[in-house]
Order: sequence, then structure tokens, then C-alpha cells
Amino acid sequence: MEIIDTIAAFRQARARFGELGLVPTMGYLHAGHLSLVRRAKAECGAVATSIFVNPTQFGPNEDLERYPRDMERDLALLRAEGVDLVFAPAAAEIYPQGFNTFIDVGGVTEMLEGAARPGHFRGVATVVCKLFMIVQPTRAYFGQKDAQQTVVVSKMIRDLNLPVEVVVCPTVREPDGLALSSRNTYLTPEQRQAATVLSRALTAAQRRYEQGERNAETLREAMHSLLAAEPLAQVEYVSAADPLTLHELEVVGPRGALLSLAVRIGATRLIDNVALE
Ligand code: PAJ
Repeated sequence: MEIIDTIAAFRQARARFGELGLVPTMGYLHAGHLSLVRRAKAECGAVATSIFVNPTQFGPNEDLERYPRDMERDLALLRAEGVDLVFAPAAAEIYPQGFNTFIDVGGVTEMLEGAARPGHFRGVATVVCKLFMIVQPTRAYFGQKDAQQTVVVSKMIRDLNLPVEVVVCPTVREPDGLALSSRNTYLTPEQRQAATVLSRALTAAQRRYEQGERNAETLREAMHSLLAAEPLAQVEYVSAADPLTLHELEVVGPRGALLSLAVRIGATRLIDNVALE
């Protein structure tokens, strides 16, 4: 496994490979990240993983400074998975003095995470576009956990004719339903227990859907009523939206729906979602 921190060296190393799968990450890897790596290994001749805590996708009052980092552990995990190339640049390599070009995806960035975190998807789209240009992957692997991110990246690829295929992989969860996230490490034991309310709310609404409920407001209310019963949970949003446009639905139609929510447990902001087919 080659560990590379400059764009020039990465381009040289990449030239030795044909088909290449890319798994972009911000590090502090868990089984969710590793499921993407495994899928890429199974589907691509070679696999590259990037580890870069991207400053432009964090808001001024967000957790950039305290975002968890453990490069040695991450590299050991990636080596064990048989990853070929790791790209782990410093911030100045990606954003040198005078950097001033950003990717603004319209429409699908306006709601949900985009509304709650202004500028977030501008940072995500910009860094993912740069990673695509540097790594030149055949396919790029993203988690359903960040559902809106997959919609934004797919829209950017289509609008800019980027020659990359997106593969969306299922959310990996703890046995009690909590979606794996690097941010789960912020939770106290009591908060960790309360955090199961996200997946419990989604599962309750999903069950209503499977029993035939198609009124989107009823599904949103089903989620709200579970969240209201958890004193440590502060709801930011609850959504039942069209899976392509992300507009809130009145009725769930043939395209199904994306149920998603953002909840604060103490100071920690957690998101989760489930796709209704
Ligand atoms: P990060 O939060 O490190 O996540 C990297 C990838 O792992 C994303 O595609 C995310 O959806 C996926 N992932 C996270 N938790 C998961 C889980 N429990 N199950 C399955 N997949 C999971 O997302 C980012 O980094 C950044 O925005 C990035 C795309 C790297 C751009 O900076």
C-alpha cells in the first residue's frame, strides 16, 4: 500500500493502474467506511482511499478542530483491506494560497443538510470534484448514510460530464440500529443510548409505510412522535422527500421516498435516513 501526500506523486502512482475505485473519506475509519472499501475491492482492479478532513465543508461554528483523527490506525485498517493507494494530503496541498474556485450544485443542495449547514455542499462538491480530477477513478463509492451527499455528487457528475460512476452502499449500523459515524465518539454513554432514537423513528415510519400508509405527513408525524419521547433529542428536521428532487412529499408515489432526519443529542449532531422503495 502506497501512502501519498502530494498531488504530483499521486498522479504518477495512479498512472500504473487501469481501472481504479475511489473511496473518499475524512478518516477515523469505522466499519461503514470499510464496507465501501470492500465493495470497491470486489468491483475494481485497484482501490484508492483518500483521507482528508476537508475544511471547506465545515461551518464556522462546526467541529473542524475537534473532528476525530487517527492516521496510524486508519492506515493499518486500509492495509488490512488490501487498499492499493492512500491519498492523505495536507490542507495546503488541496487549498493552496489564493485558491478561489468552488462548485455550487443548485437545487438539491437547498434543503435538509444544505439548509441546516450553509456552504456545506459547496465544500463537499468542490473537494469531491478535485479528488476526481486528481485520482481519476473509474468508480467512486459513497454511503447511503449521507443520502443527500450522494444526490449532490451524482448531480455534479451529470451536470459537469465527469467520467466517474457513483456506487451507493448501504448504511452499516450498530446491533441496536445506530448508524456508524465518526461523530458517535462524541457521545457520553447516556447520550449513546438516547441516540438509538434516530433509527427507531425511521424504522417506525418505515413500518407504517410497509403497512400501506402513503400520506407523507403521517410518516413525518410518526418519526416526530418517537423523537418527542426522547428527552435528550433535539430535532433539527424530519423529512419524507422525493428521492431524486428531495422536495417534501404530500403523498409517497411510485418513486418511493427518502425518510431522513437530523437530531442533536447534547452538542452532537447526528443524521440518519432510510429509503422507501
Ligand atoms: P466521511 O464522513 O468520512 O464518510 C466517508 C464515506 O463513508 C461517505 O460516503 C459516507 O457516506 C460513508 N459512510 C459513513 N458512515 C457510514 C455508514 N454507517 N455506513 C455506510 N457508509 C458510511 O462523507 C464524507 O466523509 C465527506 O463528505 C467526503 C465525501 C469524504 C468529502 O469530504
